[in-house]
Amino acid sequence: MSSSINFILNNEVVKTTVNPATVVLDFLRKNKKLTGTKEGCREGDCGACAILLGHFADGKMRYKTVNSCLLPILSVNGMHIVTIEGLNSDKLNPIQQAIVDEGATQCGFCTPGFIISLTGYFLSAENVDTETAIEFLSGNICRCTGYASIKRAVEKLVAEVKPYTLLNSLTKGQLISVGIIPKYFSGIPSMLEKLESGMLMERIYSDSEFLIGGGTDLFVQKPTALLSSNLTLTGRDRILSEIKAENDFLNIGAAVSISEIQHSETIKKYFPQLEKLLNLFGSTPIRNRATIGGNIINASPIGDMINILLALNASLHFNDERTVDLKNFFLGYKMLNKKDDEELLYISIPLPVKNYKFNFEKVSRRTYLDIASVNSSIYVETNENKIENIRLSAGGVAPVPFYLENTCNFLQSKEINFSLIDEAASIAISEISPISDARGSADYKKILLRQLILAHFIKLFPALIDAEEVI
Ligand SMILES: Cc1cc2nc3c(=O)[nH]c(=O)nc-3n(C[C@H](O)[C@H](O)[C@H](O)COP(=O)(O)OP(=O)(O)OC[C@H]3O[C@@H](n4cnc5c(N)ncnc54)[C@H](O)[C@@H]3O)c2cc1C
Ligand code: FES
Ligand code: FES
Repeated sequence: MSSSINFILNNEVVKTTVNPATVVLDFLRKNKKLTGTKEGCREGDCGACAILLGHFADGKMRYKTVNSCLLPILSVNGMHIVTIEGLNSDKLNPIQQAIVDEGATQCGFCTPGFIISLTGYFLSAENVDTETAIEFLSGNICRCTGYASIKRAVEKLVAEVKPYTLLNSLTKGQLISVGIIPKYFSGIPSMLEKLESGMLMERIYSDSEFLIGGGTDLFVQKPTALLSSNLTLTGRDRILSEIKAENDFLNIGAAVSISEIQHSETIKKYFPQLEKLLNLFGSTPIRNRATIGGNIINASPIGDMINILLALNASLHFNDERTVDLKNFFLGYKMLNKKDDEELLYISIPLPVKNYKFNFEKVSRRTYLDIASVNSSIYVETNENKIENIRLSAGGVAPVPFYLENTCNFLQSKEINFSLIDEAASIAISEISPISDARGSADYKKILLRQLILAHFIKLFPALIDAEEVI
């Protein structure tokens, strides 16, 4: 076992003993002088620092776009990093050419990030089309060009590449022949295989002070403290990385990322709505790193995954074999029913009954890449029009992620109609205690929660609740 952090950077093997909490952005720019990866916000918001992170799994390389400003170098051990320099060849590749042809760059500061994200899209897309390609750019911000020309470049590119697709997605060989990735990509698996033999480290820093999931909260909140601390990565144990349904429960490992939840076939089987709804969580690169466990332990009152899990009646399972219902886990603002050294292993959710309905609503100042002012989830089972079982949650309305216990008790066993839901919304408002802050006044948040409860029922029971009546 090597005491260095070993990975492949573009086409080069790197072994480094830099501080494991160094973010990859700094390593690239300061140690490697690869300044094509830009430093913008350092908070995961702008995408200027985007890189591709590849690992070998189930016999093939899988790449995802990540923000290098929130990525500790310890996390890339045994992986392939691709920067904008690693995509260059002696002429512009089709992505670069489309950006030039459509005038989709001005100062150029954001452009490497856009090119990396589009490359990540073609490397991972299950269906190549303009709409999903544009959705994939949710983590990239351009301050000067304007998005119309960027959209045109994407349309042109998709039209050009689409004819090469086999079963809607592109193989590595096709991407190399189209020129989207350079030839050296085909040699990366064997380079990684050699790197892994004897060099992959696991938990080198066992006296950890910080347990890192994706780092998307920690590296925003404590970047300096992390540099003088020991780190341990979660997710090396299988149970933390698995998603499986067994004994009437869906078990999701704490280190599973939000993207993995979106694309898991097991989750799609029981909760198909989550694939689209979770697009409201951060951006593509944030979802690629953010873990479900990190979202819960960070305990933000507006955490989106927590909000969803409260309505799904989730329980938490820790490494000391303790189990806690998520509803009882939050004791006060960022105060948890958890010992400091406990590690969350997995989250279990009861499998839903056949005819259940689920919805998640989030109001934020921007549709994407923004945290909620108020969010809310609903899980409901009905027989004809009568509620048989209901669970409602609300975020941003109390010091903790909130389960609307009184509202659920009121709705239980009742027939759905407008006046019932109207009364339920008033009960919900009476059991919350929002504060005024940058995301809105307390009164505004009360109005939002009422609207979100109505929105759940309008969306799930359009035949019973008339949107016109609500207005
Ligand atoms: C730009 C941006 C956009 C965002 N958008 C959203 C959004 O839309 N919705 C939303 O809800 N959040 C959002 N977030 C917040 C963040 O991405 C999520 O809370 C994410 O799920 C945190 O997971 P992580 O793995 O990155 O956590 P980390 O930063 O790795 O860890 C967070 C905390 O959890 C602890 N921890 C992690 N795993 C375990 C474990 N297995 N056992 C015990 N403790 C553990 C860590 O020690 C730390 O205290 C955003 C963040 C950024 C930077
Ligand atoms: S520098 Fe803005 S997302 Fe990393
Ligand atoms: S081209 Fe200037 S920020 Fe996008």
